[in-house]
Amino acid sequence: METRNNLNMMNLSDDEFFNELRKNEYARVDAGKHVYLDYTGGNLYAASQVNNHHEMLLANVLGNPHSTNPTSKLATKMVEESRAKVLQFFQAEDYYCVFTPNASGALRIIGESYPFSQDSTFLILADNHNSVNGIREYCNGKKGTTKYVHVQHDDLQIDEVLLNDALKKTPKSKANLFAFPAQSNVSGVKHDLSWVSVAQENGFDVLLDAAAFVPTSKLDLSVVQPDFVSVSFYKIFGYPTGLGCLLIKKSTFEKLCKPWFAGGTVRLVSVVTQKRFLASGHERFEDGTVNYLDIPAVKIGLDYIESIGMDRISRRVRSLAETLSAELGKCQHADGTPIVKIIGPKDFSKRGGTMIMSFFDKNGNMFSYPEIEEYANGMMISIRSGCFCNPGIDEINSSLNQEDMSGYFENQNPDHYLGSEKEVYEDMIKFFGKMRGGTRISVGLATTSADLKKFLEFVESLKNKFVSKKIASLS
Ligand SMILES: Cc1ncc(COP(=O)(O)O)c(C=O)c1O
Repeated sequence: METRNNLNMMNLSDDEFFNELRKNEYARVDAGKHVYLDYTGGNLYAASQVNNHHEMLLANVLGNPHSTNPTSKLATKMVEESRAKVLQFFQAEDYYCVFTPNASGALRIIGESYPFSQDSTFLILADNHNSVNGIREYCNGKKGTTKYVHVQHDDLQIDEVLLNDALKKTPKSKANLFAFPAQSNVSGVKHDLSWVSVAQENGFDVLLDAAAFVPTSKLDLSVVQPDFVSVSFYKIFGYPTGLGCLLIKKSTFEKLCKPWFAGGTVRLVSVVTQKRFLASGHERFEDGTVNYLDIPAVKIGLDYIESIGMDRISRRVRSLAETLSAELGKCQHADGTPIVKIIGPKDFSKRGGTMIMSFFDKNGNMFSYPEIEEYANGMMISIRSGCFCNPGIDEINSSLNQEDMSGYFENQNPDHYLGSEKEVYEDMIKFFGKMRGGTRISVGLATTSADLKKFLEFVESLKNKFVSKKIASLS
């Protein structure tokens, strides 16, 4: 089955085009009466992607790519076609594309292989996903220094003075790494990509976490050239899950020191001498057998996205987000107090389709995020709530400083909490005496104005609800 957004569809207005796309490719969303607003969590897959992939699987015999037999050769060819497609999609001629299980798998390779030493600084924006935050364990384990640069409290954007200062004042070392997200997975803020070259001019290698950016924005690696880029494919086109990539700038490649070897990553291994020759390029970091049945679906997914056009997706998502934000601003209680507060910049050229918000009852009490999620679940609305694996932004929003957080951790087992994630948050809320976490709404290529309307009806319905006693006593 072909993608149905053919030439005729290209002449439609954006609204008409995406409504048609929803009907043709995402009919199951309406059939199930879903309102899906968690595109930053995971994109939805188009019917044609799944059909094209299944047709390919049913028509071919594919074998483990580590051989030269016919089925192996075909699998290798398809994997390499997908790799070439990824490189072309990001205009990444100067990069190797390493397939990984997800963005976290890509980030883990950097943690394990970046040559941190006691002279190193891992400079990291406070607005990072935990899979980037976690790299600090590798740096600190080598006795290097991890230093966070906070974002501005009022609009969650980079504080230029702080970051410039940190980049300039960090002692020079052979291995200083700066990590930031191209787009925040919580606030949707698009951080200025010119920081890549500024950091490099100050002697840093740069890790750009592009996982939340690339689903709705063009990343052109012939223009912006970070040393490392992490991506999860299901966030761009929904199917398949379990695949991402690490893009490594060829000129930085040899700086990474792989701490072990596995099948597929070595050219030759000797047991009697314990010597080995590592493979070069992407092969060095693809441990064992790659996911050769699903990797061909990456090309199908990227072809699908290209058939729509990333410019068109960006324009659409911005328009939906702007409309939603304006309409939410009009949702008020009878006395004119707002029901919703959206956090982050008002200027939509500086943000994507992800918004973090809090909801208030008519007495001005904030609904807890589990309460909001529960109400939304009841209306088949899929939203995301909590702290979104990005504690930096939540600590800023909740005005929690180092002293507050140290005080909390001192009361706990230093390494782990004996309870579920829900319990740990309830416990923390009790400790601080105030609510934490928020609700994230994210729109994407399959969102329609009907989805926004249903979400706005949900928000209006909060006029008749009160913050529950249990939560009120905690806030
Ligand atoms: C900005 C960002 N980085 C990294 C990740 C981790 O992605 P994954 O869970 O696919 O490994 C996410 C996931 O939400 C993300 O939004």
